[in-house]
Amino acid sequence: MRLRGRKGIREALETQAELIVLNPAAYKGKWKDVFGNYRPIHVELGMGKGRFISQLSSLNPEINYIGVDMYDELLRRAGEKAVQSREENGGTLANLRLALFNIEKIGDMFETDELERIYLNFSDPWPKKRHARRRLTYSAFVRKYIDILNDNGEIHFKTDSRSLFEFSLNSLADMGLRMRNISLDLHADGPRTDLVMTEYETKFYEQGMNIYRLEAVIGQAALERHLLSLERDIQENGE
Ligand SMILES: C[S@@+](CC[C@H](N)C(=O)[O-])C[C@H]1O[C@@H](n2cnc3c(N)ncnc32)[C@H](O)[C@@H]1O
Repeated sequence: MRLRGRKGIREALETQAELIVLNPAAYKGKWKDVFGNYRPIHVELGMGKGRFISQLSSLNPEINYIGVDMYDELLRRAGEKAVQSREENGGTLANLRLALFNIEKIGDMFETDELERIYLNFSDPWPKKRHARRRLTYSAFVRKYIDILNDNGEIHFKTDSRSLFEFSLNSLADMGLRMRNISLDLHADGPRTDLVMTEYETKFYEQGMNIYRLEAVIGQAALERHLLSLERDIQENGE
């Protein structure tokens, strides 16, 4: 197999300017212009090889998706996957962008209120206590997410790491955030067909490992909808 050098990868990425964004900070506050519409924007932070974002964007053409990762080679692979998934399932790539960016600077890529949803899928667990600040659910990161999420904003988080999940539950709860759909074994009754699996998730699921999942409700409108649905459940099912 011929391995491409870094320069070769970059050149290959530059030829896909409609899908791959190498300077995403230039579009802060302007992502609606990039997509050419005002549809909601959902972002996966740390998309890896991009299967999740490719499939989701193919399934939901009415939502715009951005996959973010910091490695050229992963962007190249994700780009290939996106093209392949459209060839197999139909549809266009108009609602998908893949961005090369470091999540630590996510506030330089998106404006306040620009996003509707953030997916954190199998983020690096950083198990050593002295590395806790690098975990993507550490309060300093979450504060940035809260800023860029809008009134309908939510964070959807999945991991195979029990310690990262425990840390995240505490971190989000300490910030006073409402959580729902918390699962300690997401696929206990077989794979959840209503949710798209990521590359890491498939691998861990096949190894029989538990997948942990939660949703954090961030925006005021999202919170009000959630509280209303709880009330409705109580009325329908009794106390
Ligand atoms: C364990 S992988 C998970 C990939 C994918 N979400 C999945 O579930 O299959 C974590 C990904 O996050 C990316 N990542 C980690 N830290 C990052 C950062 N600071 N900025 C951008 N990407 C990052 C890594 O490059 C890697 O692709």
